[in-house]
Amino acid sequence: MLKIMVIGGGAREHSLVWKLTQSSEVGEIYVTPGNAGTGLTANNLDIKSTELEPLAQAAQERRIDLTIVGPEAPLAEGIVDLFQRYGLPIFGPTQEATKIESSKVFATELMQRYGIPCARSRSFSSFIEAKDYVKNQKPPIVVKADGLAAGKGSIIANSTPEALAALSEIMEKRIFGKAGDQVLVEECLVGKEVSLLAFTDGRTVVPMVPACDYKRVFDGDEGPNTGGMGSYSPPGFFDAEMINRVNDTILKPTVQAMAKEDKPYKGVLYAGIMLTEDGPKAMEFNARFGDPETQAMLPLLKSDLVDIMLAVIDERLDRIEIKWSNEACVGVVMASGGYPDSYKTGFPVEGLDKIDDDILVFHAGTKVNDSIICTDGGRVLTVAATGRNIAEARDRVYTNIPSIHFEGCHYRNDIGAREVPHELL
Ligand code: AMP
Ligand code: GLY
Repeated sequence: MLKIMVIGGGAREHSLVWKLTQSSEVGEIYVTPGNAGTGLTANNLDIKSTELEPLAQAAQERRIDLTIVGPEAPLAEGIVDLFQRYGLPIFGPTQEATKIESSKVFATELMQRYGIPCARSRSFSSFIEAKDYVKNQKPPIVVKADGLAAGKGSIIANSTPEALAALSEIMEKRIFGKAGDQVLVEECLVGKEVSLLAFTDGRTVVPMVPACDYKRVFDGDEGPNTGGMGSYSPPGFFDAEMINRVNDTILKPTVQAMAKEDKPYKGVLYAGIMLTEDGPKAMEFNARFGDPETQAMLPLLKSDLVDIMLAVIDERLDRIEIKWSNEACVGVVMASGGYPDSYKTGFPVEGLDKIDDDILVFHAGTKVNDSIICTDGGRVLTVAATGRNIAEARDRVYTNIPSIHFEGCHYRNDIGAREVPHELL
């Protein structure tokens, strides 16, 4: 039996643990640091995701056969390179390959060099030059900090003063620190947005089921951006032909470009796609599973996740088959009152025993206090369900959510709603 370590503590990582426990090859699972949900079926270890040496030590001491990295920060800091130096098997891209996510300038220049469809974009390291350029662009204008900024580094400015203010915040006030050493100024793409992730061993690229996520806090895409308020899979507007097209024009060429640039890419490649009038274009890449997309995708994965990950590490992805169910899944995030601004934690989470058996509850910001599961973060739970279609999955989730409660909790009511014919709502 394999011993697995999952790095991270969100609902994405809980869904990975949930999927891994279904494998006949998996024995013990450790999660660093995990949450109250992962603690129910796995062993939480109190190590932060960015404490690379302690993580490597823990993997060595416990003779971990496979480590899986959830969030981007440890990848960008080189956890895969470190584990490889110690001879510890790990799933994810190296520090150099993670540049596809950790430097938006790198990703954009790569796409431009290799003719991969993306927004028109220019990079700047001088505030004065960036300002002059912005003044000559027609709004809306997208301004992006180059580096990691916890998902907040892209600003869509609807007017020139707004774009100049964004530039000043990033480059002068340095609200994202070093991540703002360089910026991108981009054309604003219009269309439907979808996340298409793929497994890749550096040669073979296998797309997963597509998913959509909801970044704004309130129904109808109102209010400020969050880490994600829900997700559903698969979007009806993104069919098999479109998956192949994005694979052929964006995912595969990107993996090939990374190999040519001497940054071989292995792990999960996540492409944020806009379906524009001129066809699909890439807006961003991530070097890992998406959150909350993963919570709506893994319940549809029929194959053993460990088999896939080992095939990626051993570069034999072309020799395995990855099967997905043709059902649909909807995942809704329950958040703390006030999130994404300031919020209080420590409230008991009630009603987890009152929901139907077929409902999946993936924990994020939860913690056990005196044997009671309490809130411990902004996003607290992702509640997910599968169904024959989005309408059925939606119905299951939203019938059960009211049974779960914690003080101040809020969630969106429209996850997957646009996918459901009006008469069914
Ligand atoms: P990123 O920070 O690159 O991950 O982008 C975050 C979000 O900003 C994306 O999911 C899109 O919703 C939006 N976005 C990024 N780039 C563009 C663009 N060029 N045009 C329109 N929206 C964009
Ligand atoms: N769902 C967006 C992300 O994982 O970055």
